Amino acid sequence: MSDNEIAGTTAVVTGASRGFGRGIATALSKAGAQVVGVARDRAPLEELRAQLGGSFTAVPADAADPVVAGQLIDAYRPAIVVLNAGATPLPRPVQHHTWQTFSRNWDVDVHHVFNWTREALLRPLDPGSAVIAFSSGAALNGSPMSGGYAGAKATIRFIASYAAAESERGGLGIRFTSVLPDLTPVTDLGAPAVAAYAARQGVDVATFLAARGPRLTPEQVGRAIVDLAAGPGHDAGAYQLTAAGLTPLS
Ligand SMILES: NC(=O)c1ccc[n+]([C@@H]2O[C@H](COP(=O)([O-])OP(=O)(O)OC[C@H]3O[C@@H](n4cnc5c(N)ncnc54)[C@H](OP(=O)(O)O)[C@@H]3O)[C@@H](O)[C@H]2O)c1
Repeated sequence: MSDNEIAGTTAVVTGASRGFGRGIATALSKAGAQVVGVARDRAPLEELRAQLGGSFTAVPADAADPVVAGQLIDAYRPAIVVLNAGATPLPRPVQHHTWQTFSRNWDVDVHHVFNWTREALLRPLDPGSAVIAFSSGAALNGSPMSGGYAGAKATIRFIASYAAAESERGGLGIRFTSVLPDLTPVTDLGAPAVAAYAARQGVDVATFLAARGPRLTPEQVGRAIVDLAAGPGHDAGAYQLTAAGLTPLS
């Protein structure tokens, strides 16, 4: 699928209402895709629909619900699926977590990637389709203040690689890729994490961020996902994503 071929295709984006997902939905819509955006809270989805117009369909739903995954894959037969929805981890050291708080990203992030990946393989989506799942840089480095987040995100990378192998074995022609974005303070999920890690280091947020370099923005994430979905030159199984762009991981 080239940039031109994105025009007229249907893309599903989970967690489309704010943060990275909003940037991705906007970029795909501008590239000419019909975008189906999923999030639980209806109001910000409707606001995005008012901004993007008829190229955006708002679906208020729980992306981790297996019925939602099955219904939307069957109804829209998307050529692009971006599995971006994610829960905000409770920022505290491991001993201050309960199993319920520790496992939250497994129940939302991993559960939804598992359900949607399964539906994409079973349907199966058309050859040339792309399924892009959001892992995190934390999957490489750990995240000691975020409970089970890093392990959950590492599992998402594994699920995408297992699905890519199944697609290859079955000759399905579906591309499965994971993306590992850098921590950024500009989203509702990133801001409390940045504050917690700065406090942990005993520095203020500005000092913490200055040491990390340029901030990744939702607009940069949106552009990167359009490039990935477009395909050419992007055949790695996983990519790190920073303000400098996509870097393939071996
Ligand atoms: N920001 C960072 O620094 C960073 C770094 C690395 C990776 N990531 C990953 O990138 C993804 C996006 O993060 P973000 O920073 O953009 O987060 P965000 O600003 O908090 O947005 C999260 C989105 O997911 C939706 N969502 C959460 N649970 C959902 C559910 N069960 N069903 C449907 N939608 C759900 C939210 O809408 P509702 O609450 O209305 O459902 C919202 O649209 C996440 O997977 C995150 O782990 C983020």
